[in-house]
Amino acid sequence: MKKMKKWLAGIIVLTLSISMLSACGKSAAPEGDKGYTMDNIRDYVVGIDEEMELENGSKKTVTNFDNAATTPALQPVADEVEEELKKYGSIGRGFSPKSDYSTDLYNSTKDKIIDFVGADPETYTVFYVNNTTDGLNKLASALIEKKSDVVLTTRMEHHSNDLPWRENGTVIYAEVDDQGRVMYDEIEKQLKKNKVKYVSVTAASNVTGYVTDVHRVAKLAHKYGAKIIVDGAQIVAHRKFSMLGETEDENIDFFVFSAHKMYSPYGGGAVVGLSEALSGHMPKFYGGGTIYIVGDDWVEYADAPKSYEAGSPNYPGVIGLGKAIDILEEVGFDNIEAHEKALNQRLVDGLLKMDNVIVYGDSEDLSDRVGVISFNFSDCNSHLLAEQLSQQYAIATRRGAFCANPYVWRFYGLTDEQVRNFAECSDVNTPGMIRVSFGIYNTEEEVDYLLKVLPDAIKRAKAINEENFGLAEPLY
Ligand SMILES: Cc1ncc(COP(=O)(O)O)c(C=O)c1O
Repeated sequence: MKKMKKWLAGIIVLTLSISMLSACGKSAAPEGDKGYTMDNIRDYVVGIDEEMELENGSKKTVTNFDNAATTPALQPVADEVEEELKKYGSIGRGFSPKSDYSTDLYNSTKDKIIDFVGADPETYTVFYVNNTTDGLNKLASALIEKKSDVVLTTRMEHHSNDLPWRENGTVIYAEVDDQGRVMYDEIEKQLKKNKVKYVSVTAASNVTGYVTDVHRVAKLAHKYGAKIIVDGAQIVAHRKFSMLGETEDENIDFFVFSAHKMYSPYGGGAVVGLSEALSGHMPKFYGGGTIYIVGDDWVEYADAPKSYEAGSPNYPGVIGLGKAIDILEEVGFDNIEAHEKALNQRLVDGLLKMDNVIVYGDSEDLSDRVGVISFNFSDCNSHLLAEQLSQQYAIATRRGAFCANPYVWRFYGLTDEQVRNFAECSDVNTPGMIRVSFGIYNTEEEVDYLLKVLPDAIKRAKAINEENFGLAEPLY
């Protein structure tokens, strides 16, 4: 009888633990000693099994192919943030054990970031930002001294690596080739012709996924006396990135990235940059935390990185970022790259079998692309199609020109004047592509599911067009 009771108690404890585990998502520690791997990482994606209501009233889990916009958080990241909030105190200013503890963690995460991007801690520093856009704006505001300062960028860029330079300095552009790849000889041509102060390029495109050889660009920039800034938004969660090149002239001077694109929630990010180049400058962003001392009508501002971190920081964002780095490194960037390449190939192979498909960029050689594929069907409005994929099948894609308008217009062969005509148009009337972007947790089955439902989604989108819009030409 006693034995029986023990046995029953054992079952109750086991059942309770299992139900607690499934109620809270998986615990931070992976089972056994396998650690986080490509095979088990999907189990740790927050909300992966969450059913969402569709327009027709049914409920479905979402197939998320919108990872270039933002990635879902990982459970261990969420757990780490929750845990560290227990020891949370004011950062850098308070006198308390909690303040000391959280200040140490805030600073040591900077060391982890420096290490993550292979920078030399003797010459590089880190300041936290809200996201890549915030980081690039801060750099533009701090580093550009006068409107005539010339910044060279490319026609591949996200608006966040274009508009801050337009607003602060004088921007010139290196064209992309017919397939949408960066042209390195164009970059050199522009460097030769102009007195360029900064070259700012993306490490990977959010439209085509093309990876830029930023070390090659660094060598060119340095040859002509410019410094190089790299927009790392689309690379940090996809490829091992090092700021150090094979030779010193290939080193990256500034690197900017967002944490919400690497499995941590919104609000975190960092800029890693040469301490010497950042010092003596500061963004037009003033207030607490940026100073040594203030008098009645004078201020002595602190040096970098303090002068770049006005106001109280986003501590949970820092904790999440630190944990996300640990997990991505544990999963391994070689594995992530191989996985994305397999998904890219499967999707493109499937798409190319379909009628009227247009896959943007080089669809024969996918070797220099992160997990981003943009496409269209020449007989179907892309806005209506993306809507059908979402409403009927809970497939999340992105549709539009992806905050990289000039790059997207080049694929359509639209002139600037033609594009101007779209300024007043509704979304459905404005050209756009459909983008699928992969995360580490996406599967081949999910790709097959998209390919399977696409013909039906196209049929529905065409019927809606005919019934409600009567667009003479499909706008893609
Ligand atoms: C290449 C690139 N740069 C910059 C950004 C801006 O990132 P964030 O919105 O996190 O500031 C994005 C966002 O999609 C991006 O893809």
